[in-house]
Amino acid sequence: MMTCQAAILDDVPGVGRYVFFQLASTRPDDVRAGLVRLKALTDGAQILVGLGPKLVQLLGTDVPGLHDLVALNHAGVDVPVTPAALCCWLRGDDRGELLHLTRQLQQALAPGFVLGQVVDAFRYGSGRDLTGYEDGTENPAGDAAAAAALLQGAGVGLDGSSFMVVQQWQHDLDAFDAMSPTRQDHSIGRRRSDNEELDGAPASAHVKRTAQESFEPAAFILRRSMPWTLGPQSGLMFVAFGCSFDAFQVLMRHMLGLDDGVLDGLFGFSRPITGANFWCPPMHDGQLDLRHLGLRGRPRDFFAKPISAVPRPDSLEPPGWLAAAAVADAGGAVGGGWRFSGLAFAGCVCAGHCFDAQCRLLHQRRGRPRV
Ligand code: HEM
Repeated sequence: MMTCQAAILDDVPGVGRYVFFQLASTRPDDVRAGLVRLKALTDGAQILVGLGPKLVQLLGTDVPGLHDLVALNHAGVDVPVTPAALCCWLRGDDRGELLHLTRQLQQALAPGFVLGQVVDAFRYGSGRDLTGYEDGTENPAGDAAAAAALLQGAGVGLDGSSFMVVQQWQHDLDAFDAMSPTRQDHSIGRRRSDNEELDGAPASAHVKRTAQESFEPAAFILRRSMPWTLGPQSGLMFVAFGCSFDAFQVLMRHMLGLDDGVLDGLFGFSRPITGANFWCPPMHDGQLDLRHLGLRGRPRDFFAKPISAVPRPDSLEPPGWLAAAAVADAGGAVGGGWRFSGLAFAGCVCAGHCFDAQCRLLHQRRGRPRV
């Protein structure tokens, strides 16, 4: 059965964090080991993962249709390209949790990857852009959302995957506030007060530039954007999922007026300051499916420690710890109470007392918080 990372089809969360990683090592073994550990950490819902084109290339594989974002420049507007090896979209309702998830990712990915840009984001009201306009109204829903966003019929390891564009847009809210309410509505093409689409909006109105059904073929994308703010700066982390990058590219070119010279009204108060393309692999057995990249392994060595290095928490029930000790004594390694490398045992024996990152996540997933 085809399974995508759930975050693609789910609504945007209360808080989000976009964590970008760059390659820190050109040794494919370091990179592969990091990805195998990432695979086990990723549930697709709390953590969504996208891989950049250069990373896939380094692994000696090819994902048909994956390529860098195309830089554009027209009428004084730049659409920059700022590639990254990995983009992890962390989602939840507690910023502290997302900070700890970030640290877990850093540990799991080192030494092959190093942390790059981090952008904290949040949901505004019912899902509005910071200008106050509802964002996502014309997103395809249900089967249409899956059809727009997910690769299908491409084979095992590819079906259920998605092509993601991430662009950080920075708003000039002073410029926006200086516009009359009518001009503001005309920039978007909808009335802010009731979200009604305006018949009399100019050709430059954003929803006219991006009317998905008006293209041939129709240019449907699934948008999951979130507002961001950092000090005095703010804007929108624009995120779009597609079964290819084609629809996004067509929309972006039309926003710039590359075909008819009409510039999107959005540029009157906002500009993209970063942008990159990623491939979001599907899920398999509750983990990220990296079979297309030839990565099937379990994270054997990451948490493996000799038993002498495994502290026995005072409050841990003896049977669990003894089980760990017995396996380790028999020549196995113990993984933070989570999984014994090379052995069939895959249950958690730490009873929630472990300080191991992997273990902590397992408890979160099972709804049993670590003590
Ligand atoms: C600062 C950045 C952006 C803001 C604030 C923004 C905001 C909005 C708003 C308020 C709407 C109307 C409600 C809705 O249907 O969601 C909308 C629609 C839309 N936007 Fe954006 N948007 C931004 C960037 C982009 C970009 C970069 C693209 C694609 C290249 C895009 C594609 C679309 C599409 C496809 C629609 C629906 C149009 C339709 O079919 O009616 N947007 N956007």
